[in-house]
Amino acid sequence: MTNLERANQYQEENRIDKSEKPVFHVTPPVGWMNDPNGFSIYQGKIHLFYQYHPYSDVWGPMHWGHYVSEDFIKWKEFPAVLAPDMDYDAAGCFSGSAIEVGGKHALIYTGVMEREGEDGTKEILQQQCLAVGDGVNYTKVSENPVISGEQLPDGFSREDFRDPKVWQEGGAYYLVAGNKNRQQNGQVVLFESKDLKTWRYLSVLADNQGKYGEMWECPDFFSLEQKYVLVVSPQDMKADGGEFYNGNQSIALIGEYDRQNYRLQEEQIISLDYGMDFYAPQTMKTEDGRRIMIGWMHSWDMNIKPAEQKWNGMLTIPRQLEWRENVLYQHPVKELERYRTEPVVYTGRKISGECQIPKIRGRVLDLTIELLEGDYKEFCIFFAKNEKYSTSFRYNRDGQFIEFDRTYSGMERDVVSQRTMKIKRSTEKCKLRMILDKFSVELFVNDGAQTFSATFYTPMDAQDIVFVCDKTVIANIEKYTISMGK
Ligand code: FRU
Repeated sequence: MTNLERANQYQEENRIDKSEKPVFHVTPPVGWMNDPNGFSIYQGKIHLFYQYHPYSDVWGPMHWGHYVSEDFIKWKEFPAVLAPDMDYDAAGCFSGSAIEVGGKHALIYTGVMEREGEDGTKEILQQQCLAVGDGVNYTKVSENPVISGEQLPDGFSREDFRDPKVWQEGGAYYLVAGNKNRQQNGQVVLFESKDLKTWRYLSVLADNQGKYGEMWECPDFFSLEQKYVLVVSPQDMKADGGEFYNGNQSIALIGEYDRQNYRLQEEQIISLDYGMDFYAPQTMKTEDGRRIMIGWMHSWDMNIKPAEQKWNGMLTIPRQLEWRENVLYQHPVKELERYRTEPVVYTGRKISGECQIPKIRGRVLDLTIELLEGDYKEFCIFFAKNEKYSTSFRYNRDGQFIEFDRTYSGMERDVVSQRTMKIKRSTEKCKLRMILDKFSVELFVNDGAQTFSATFYTPMDAQDIVFVCDKTVIANIEKYTISMGK
């Protein structure tokens, strides 16, 4: 039996029951999931692959798992497509991307191999590899690896060279990959090809300037309205000015693209999400021209999953990106609206003190609250709540910040449980849209001008939502249950 057959047999025999998992967020059939990979359209359907280790609930030799959807919300599980089984990827099939080419679906991923260097020490090599398939079965090409570290300029790392993201432009293919320069600083390198098999090094598209973390993982480069956006996920960031927090996080560099020198001229560098669980996002373009991003809703540093849960890791809701008036907005894909049921709407509702509002409760929902006016200074939403547990957002009107707190969510680990997000563009009214799916919350502030994603594994009987206002606020509330039907 091949490694891939073994993984798929394991998946078949150990699949975790849907009732134990989120309803509309992507999770692994069994075991461990990290980065989304190969997010693309192939023959009219949305394909989504992911870093997968079916055999345990922690990271291990990387496979590519596979889901397919027609609307970004309902996903059909497919067999895994890649397993480490060649000399060039024996230590793992790391992250990468996909593109439709002449009726075939091409996956470009990082093959990781370990070997003994000349001095007897262990050497790790990361090289870019190609597999071609029909949407179900994929074959690694005989020319692999299609890009080796030898093609990089002298001094660039061969060990940290990963996560290719491919696109087509004019008559050529391009890809960006994460890398490290001679000074060990993160950078994004750009390559060009006519056939996906022979690649030419072009440039360093952007680098971390010695300040945005160290290694840059999972780059993605695209145009959005009049600008160019480079998304990267730096490791080892240091907290800075309320915009960036410690550890791994994902940022966007927004600016102009100097095509003569193949260099991004960044004008703004921002955090993509201010929560605890957001990393390694990847984007794709839909047939109707929307740029959709999906991220890993988890953290490398904080594993808060309960020990008895046999799956680990989930992805965010796919989000449409929009660049408007110098702000990068994120909106849950509009297809989510098809799955909204049981609408509950309150217009101009007065809230003061602590209150529960009829029919506003549950763990799988889409809730929007618009705080219109009042003499209040603080407004809190407690959710996934019962007498023992709760998680909350606290909006401070004067300070213009939102504080998240999962201290009482039922965690067993001593990890970061509170984080404050400064509201960058304050508005008269504050609009909060909260997507809950059992064990996660995604908050879209002021129409998605900022987002906050976090997980919590509170027992499912904590279903209450409680509002607390220090004085009085007049609010519009709209709540839907999200239901996938049968
Ligand atoms: C990001 C990452 C990638 C790598 C993959 C390995 O989370 O470290 O750089 O390809 O995970 O699973």
